[in-house]
Amino acid sequence: MRSLNKNFKHIEEEIEFLKKEKNAIILSHFYQDEDIQDIADFIGDSLDLSRKAQKNDADIIVFCGVKFMAEVAKILSPNKKVILPDLNAGCSLEESCQVSEFRKFKKENPDHIVLSYINCSAEIKAESDIIVTSSNASKILDSLPTDQKIIFAPDRHLGSYLNKMTGRNMKLWNGACIVHETFSERELVKMKVRHSDSKIIAHPECPENILKHAEFIGSTSALLKFISDDISKKFIVATEPHIIHQMKKNEPLKEFLVAPGNDGNCSCSNCPYMELNTLEKLRDCMLNLSPEINISNELLLKAKKPLNTMLKLS
Ligand code: 13P
Ligand code: SF4
Repeated sequence: MRSLNKNFKHIEEEIEFLKKEKNAIILSHFYQDEDIQDIADFIGDSLDLSRKAQKNDADIIVFCGVKFMAEVAKILSPNKKVILPDLNAGCSLEESCQVSEFRKFKKENPDHIVLSYINCSAEIKAESDIIVTSSNASKILDSLPTDQKIIFAPDRHLGSYLNKMTGRNMKLWNGACIVHETFSERELVKMKVRHSDSKIIAHPECPENILKHAEFIGSTSALLKFISDDISKKFIVATEPHIIHQMKKNEPLKEFLVAPGNDGNCSCSNCPYMELNTLEKLRDCMLNLSPEINISNELLLKAKKPLNTMLKLS
């Protein structure tokens, strides 16, 4: 394991040094710790991060997000080294959809095409026809024939929201995000009563009983755009709360409240997988160029097809 023999005062300086030394780019999702967001070269939602991973001049992509996001970066930029601070940064949606079970589900629905949410493993992507994110799913669905039979995996909440929005009847895999399932409808309504001048905004991974109270629903980048475009001064945010760091940076005069969980408190809505990445682990992975994302060539080529279809249709 390499260690740097320079006397840096702050870990951020060390990371900046390593970035230049290795011609690396740091990509971060909005759910990462504030200090990681602040040191990143690019911050975005799943779709923006995929596009950035595909088009950059770096030799090394340092992905601060969860593993499926880093895998997408590798699939779209196979000649680059892709590293992430903690290889255990998974996702409950990814875990809920294992490939052997999924193949059975596909066999039971032979005349369906497979639309998969990007929050899934490379193996599930390889079994899919088109990948979608929460920011392009409606648009991609609108481009498909209305009578097309579709399987949607793995998020049942996003799937049923999309069915409602597009009038489709997609067959849904029974997965969910443990973070977006922690919000309490009862506590949310109580908070809204106490803050009647606020607007509730939500990510479509939330269950229907939360989404029905939302005045705006969208991907992380759509939520960020909405809080700037809208005239309201106060928002109740029903998604992973680290996004509020960017909201405050973009709109310092507006107020942002974390949507409450069952105990009326909010810390339960932090993503436990995203939280595995720390500034120290980010520095270490750049020093050691590990952990690295490795995907077999065969799997990579299979998973790339539906991702490229997504990028073409978005
Ligand atoms: P976005 O694509 O909206 O950033 O969502 C990613 C995610 O994991 C939400 O839980
Ligand atoms: Fe996965 Fe949910 Fe975490 Fe997003 S917030 S990475 S969907 S567990």
